[in-house]
Amino acid sequence: PTPVVLDVDTGVDDACALLLAALHPALELRAVSCVGGNAPVDDVVRNTLKVLETAGRDDVPVARGAERPLLEPPLHARHVHGEDGMGDLGWPTSSLVPDPRHAVELLRDVCREAAEAGRPVTLVPLAPLTNIALLLRTHPDVASGIAEIVFMGGAANVGNATASAEFNVFHDPEAAAITLDAAADLGIRVTMYGLDVFYEPVIGRDEAAELVAVGGRGPAELGGRLMDFQRERLGGQDATIGDAGAVCAVIDRDALRTQVLPIRVELAGHWSRGRTIVDRRDWSGAITHDPHGEAPVRVDVALGVDGRRYSRLWA
Ligand code: BDR
Ligand code: CA
Repeated sequence: PTPVVLDVDTGVDDACALLLAALHPALELRAVSCVGGNAPVDDVVRNTLKVLETAGRDDVPVARGAERPLLEPPLHARHVHGEDGMGDLGWPTSSLVPDPRHAVELLRDVCREAAEAGRPVTLVPLAPLTNIALLLRTHPDVASGIAEIVFMGGAANVGNATASAEFNVFHDPEAAAITLDAAADLGIRVTMYGLDVFYEPVIGRDEAAELVAVGGRGPAELGGRLMDFQRERLGGQDATIGDAGAVCAVIDRDALRTQVLPIRVELAGHWSRGRTIVDRRDWSGAITHDPHGEAPVRVDVALGVDGRRYSRLWA
């Protein structure tokens, strides 16, 4: 199995991603770090522990990380994820306790151990990149323990938090810019699983009902109820598995169409702050002279996905 570490802001769809990472036999979930984003970080920790307990994974360390973005005040999304950040399902509180380390320290230790064991981890950030930026700048030696980064965030096309920007990048644009820059410096491959594919893998009403019917307050029921919450909030026949798609991308890369493209994070624009500017000009690969004087970072940008394949993988 592929060793993975998730960084989350649980989060209805982060919960779906955690269930998959905790239970799929192709993955070995090593640790989870929490960051403020969809919900305040203490709610994120509580929600994450609930999900892992439901999945029977009390062996996975969960640590509390950054409360707020590097520069701006936090901006939560209760209108999207509910008052408790996880769909207000009334799901029982977990008796598990978080790891005493700060998330950045947990990530550092797990990456170092992975490097020593010769089994680098795939880092899967599904939230604002605050913890990851702090990790890569504070402990650059962790690079040898990271096989690659597959993150949910950004968009080559339109945004969701604003017309320009996707929520995770918009919430902490400096952290996103630092993460991409540091990863390029340290030679870590990055895949951006952004809004161009995010809404494609969906679960229909009937599929969710089947999951709920399994019952017993187990992982299937939780997954089904989270999907019901999403669908009812948006109205319509189905709900996206969201962040869980980025975990699917680690398991089944062949269902994802990506292209290596130059990318920058807009930090200055009033209407465009937090936008990921992906250079899709046909000739961009041939640019040798950059009028801005710096070479842009290149990442694998997800541009298409076989949504049905990922939905089946998740359900
Ligand atoms: C991202 O922001 C959050 O609402 C979701 O959990 C996902 O990570 C989508 O923009
Ligand atoms: Ca998220």
